[in-house]
Amino acid sequence: MTTALSAPATLDERIRRDPGSFRVLSGDRPTGALHLGHYFGTLHNRVRLQDLGVETFIVIPDHQVLTDRDVAERLTATVEGLLLDYLAVGIDPDRSVIFNHSAVPALNQLLLPFLSLVSVAELGRNPTVKDEIAHSRQASVSGLMFTYPVHQAADILFCKGNLVPVGQDQLPHLEVARTVARRFNERYGPVFPEPEALLSAAPQLLGTDGTKMSKSRANSIALSADEDTTARLVKGAVTDAERHITYDPEGRPGVSGLVLLAALCLGRDPHTVAEEVGGGGAAVLKRTVTDAVNSRMAPLRARRAEYARDMGYVRAVLRAGNERANAHADATLAEVREAMGGPVPAL
Ligand code: TRP
Repeated sequence: MTTALSAPATLDERIRRDPGSFRVLSGDRPTGALHLGHYFGTLHNRVRLQDLGVETFIVIPDHQVLTDRDVAERLTATVEGLLLDYLAVGIDPDRSVIFNHSAVPALNQLLLPFLSLVSVAELGRNPTVKDEIAHSRQASVSGLMFTYPVHQAADILFCKGNLVPVGQDQLPHLEVARTVARRFNERYGPVFPEPEALLSAAPQLLGTDGTKMSKSRANSIALSADEDTTARLVKGAVTDAERHITYDPEGRPGVSGLVLLAALCLGRDPHTVAEEVGGGGAAVLKRTVTDAVNSRMAPLRARRAEYARDMGYVRAVLRAGNERANAHADATLAEVREAMGGPVPAL
């Protein structure tokens, strides 16, 4: 008799089989409007997990805006914009907890014991920190930037999040969260899960300049953009001198970025989309992209506009989320203090 071992279940299969055993934590720094790259890279996936029955937490890490800049500009408006985006894409505040970092003080209290578990050398060689420092707007690196992955560990572990949907670039940060959890448990007893990364299956979307679509690079199409703005941004996108349209991400990043965007919006294969445009050239490609984005985003934009008419409700969603997040954070902090030897009684 053969004892064939079945292949280990993929993460996706495990989630589908037992959604109740997972808790998702994800978040977006409020540094600008969420865009189509976020939508296809992570937002879409968060809604899918929520709808599968996975408990979902979304942090708006407002303190962490200051990791790479001196002031957080238009913070309130940006946070409100994120809330509108979340609601518009289908995050349901009855099933998901949306909160902002600065409203949950226990997150900062978790930070100190967590910092004691990570060495300066480890922080210094984190490639994502290095990259963020390279793109920083500041003349010198602040302690807040340097310790960023440890704040992120607190953001994840306070609610015992064990599943973090991230892009490739966030993996080193997640590794720090895993290290913090493991070392805490080894030193003080089992309190935290070791969170797993859930990588997005969607290929990375490029911005209108042919480089990674990014909030801070002025190359993105916001979820909140209207149809005319979308048309204008697509029209201004970088292409190349070759007329015939092909899908070749390595050799033709500009053209291929546009093809991919249309394909994702249409739910089709990028090679087919490129073939269909073919000799139509950049003008037909851009018209295809504009139409695809505008029709895919139309229902989402309509919902967003509806929520925007009731900002009282939107703010109440955040208040309720903060209350729930605080309850989890306070409970975890109490557990941490207990595990570490209990609070020192007042003398
Ligand atoms: N670092 C993430 C970003 O730049 C934001 C973030 C903060 C986050 N804390 C998190 C993401 C915890 C996932 C989990 O967008």
